[in-house]
Amino acid sequence: MKSRILIIGACGQIGTELTMALSKRFGKDKIVASDIREGNEMMMKSAHFELLDATDLEAVEDIVFRYKVDTVYLMAAMLSAIAERFPAKAWDLNMNSLFHILNLAKDKKVKKVFWPSSIAVFGETTPAQNTPQTTVMEPSTVYGISKQTGERWCEYYHTKYGVDVRSIRYPGLISYTTEPGGGTTDYAVDIYHRALKHGQYRCFLKEGTVLPMMYMDDAIKATIAIMDAPIDAIKIRSSYNLAAVSYAPEDVTTSIQKHIPEFEITYEPDFRQSIADTWPQSIDDSEARNDWGWSHSFGLEEITKTMLDNLRDRYTE
Ligand SMILES: NC(=O)c1ccc[n+]([C@@H]2O[C@H](COP(=O)([O-])OP(=O)(O)OC[C@H]3O[C@@H](n4cnc5c(N)ncnc54)[C@H](O)[C@@H]3O)[C@@H](O)[C@H]2O)c1
Repeated sequence: MKSRILIIGACGQIGTELTMALSKRFGKDKIVASDIREGNEMMMKSAHFELLDATDLEAVEDIVFRYKVDTVYLMAAMLSAIAERFPAKAWDLNMNSLFHILNLAKDKKVKKVFWPSSIAVFGETTPAQNTPQTTVMEPSTVYGISKQTGERWCEYYHTKYGVDVRSIRYPGLISYTTEPGGGTTDYAVDIYHRALKHGQYRCFLKEGTVLPMMYMDDAIKATIAIMDAPIDAIKIRSSYNLAAVSYAPEDVTTSIQKHIPEFEITYEPDFRQSIADTWPQSIDDSEARNDWGWSHSFGLEEITKTMLDNLRDRYTE
């Protein structure tokens, strides 16, 4: 029987690129992209598309049934900075969308689930350097609390009901195809747009704020790799630490100045600084490397070159 892959939240920063990557690999007919809004043209052309509210169980179930979906990538969520403004709405979206999919998997209506967690599961009391897979986790943001709770439920559904759910704690993700969705690491994308457009950037995080980051192609590679891995290789059913590079705003500035020497940065930290201050600076991802062969390709210099090369046309007449 022909089965399909459903991406929920397909129009976001990750969903857009994930949809296109899965479509390239499995063919357009095999992929069903969904979101509460329409996405960019390239993504919309690469898959079936359905408007779908991830909190509406009946609507989710209907699409799963109609398209014979056996695998779900649940990317819809409210991200860290926005969630602080709308705590109840963030909790509702981030938790209920997950329960719907876990319950469909428990009832054997879908076979395999990907659900992303985040470095936001860690908090001020977590060791900030080389943060271990298993450690103190006391997140202090609505978003972090929702991700940590989600991780516990994923593990629970796997242990109690045999649900094949797989998860990664993404660091801050850098990409040029779509705008970032309102997270604390958004500066690391915005800075390239501003560098090309205005030659300067006012950063909402202060100098010295080191955070774990990753180029989108690496994140997509990891997402597909963990879903491809044999079931026995997945030993962690909460969520895997995942890392590539760690840097602060001044490091991005220096790497941009190699291409745009006149580029300048100023610092005006806002409420997002207090979120960043509770997050790790670097992550120990040895379990992901050992269990399912994860390795990253992009360092900061490659990220900067790729971002500038791909965005330049947008800002030059
Ligand atoms: N981007 C990052 O740096 C990052 C880092 C760590 C974890 N994550 C996680 O990865 C996932 C995807 O992140 P992203 O950056 O692509 O986010 P995003 O905000 O760019 O995209 C989320 C998408 O979900 C959609 N959405 C919102 N409410 C919905 C609903 N009720 N029903 C259906 N769709 C809805 C939005 O329209 C949007 O297109 C999230 O779970 C996020 O927490 C992202």
